[in-house]
Amino acid sequence: MTYTETGLITTIEQRTGTQMAALTQSQLDGIDQFHAGGAAAVDRILPGLKLAPGMTALDVGSGLGGPARQIARSTGCAVVGVDTARSYVDAATAMTQAAGLAGQVSFSCADITEVERGDFDAAYTMHVQMNIADKTGFFHHIGGRLRPGARLATFEVCQSGRDKPEVPLPWSLDGDDSFLTTPADLRPTIEGSGFETIEWVDETAWALEWFHELAVPSSADGAAMLPTLLTNGPRRMANFTRALADGTLTVHRGAFTFVGPRDHGRQDA
Ligand SMILES: C[S@@+](CC[C@H](N)C(=O)[O-])C[C@H]1O[C@@H](n2cnc3c(N)ncnc32)[C@H](O)[C@@H]1O
Repeated sequence: MTYTETGLITTIEQRTGTQMAALTQSQLDGIDQFHAGGAAAVDRILPGLKLAPGMTALDVGSGLGGPARQIARSTGCAVVGVDTARSYVDAATAMTQAAGLAGQVSFSCADITEVERGDFDAAYTMHVQMNIADKTGFFHHIGGRLRPGARLATFEVCQSGRDKPEVPLPWSLDGDDSFLTTPADLRPTIEGSGFETIEWVDETAWALEWFHELAVPSSADGAAMLPTLLTNGPRRMANFTRALADGTLTVHRGAFTFVGPRDHGRQDA
């Protein structure tokens, strides 16, 4: 099983010698953004979401909550995150309280099928569908939580061809919970779940450049702590970077509009 790390807040405070509320934004960006591209990747999906104050976005697979807090700070909108890892939800909630954003950003330990609201103005998911076997069902259920015309942004890892990347990977320790698909299959899968494509961009080169800059010791974010918090973290990140560099994996960014029917994917609607 992946995503089983516990006691994350205590570990972070012990290692930094700093209370969570006193960490700088640069330190936090190296901890709570669990995807290639860090906070800069969130900036890249943001325009596609068309968010404005007063709106509420759904973050599917919200992890430690870095993207949710960044989007709330940048747009003034509310964000609701759901994630199936209890300890990540607890850490995300504690970090959000420390950031003074508890009134605007919330997290719950849930699968997308358990989300009761069906009126979100937008949704996004970053580096999550690699863990999902039934991708049509996953995106179908996301659509069921959106108002008509709402935006969906994705920032996802795909497999280029038949070659499998070496494990462990950031989303899978042993490969059992890794369900990679190609970008050529993922886009029509999302479209077939009730979405119309606005943008579908290969961000692999950009993500690789970001990893390379992160590895430069003088860079501001060079001391990113997240890999050191994760089981076998440095090796997972190294395998990911190598698979991006040798063309086994890609990172694709998508922006979509929900065009499916109102009761799409919601049994209670
Ligand atoms: C690689 S992390 C990305 C976290 C976050 N999106 C980010 O970019 O910082 C993947 C996250 O997806 C969550 N996840 C995996 N399968 C899920 C599912 N079926 N429903 C909700 N969350 C899931 C994991 O618990 C983990 O927190």
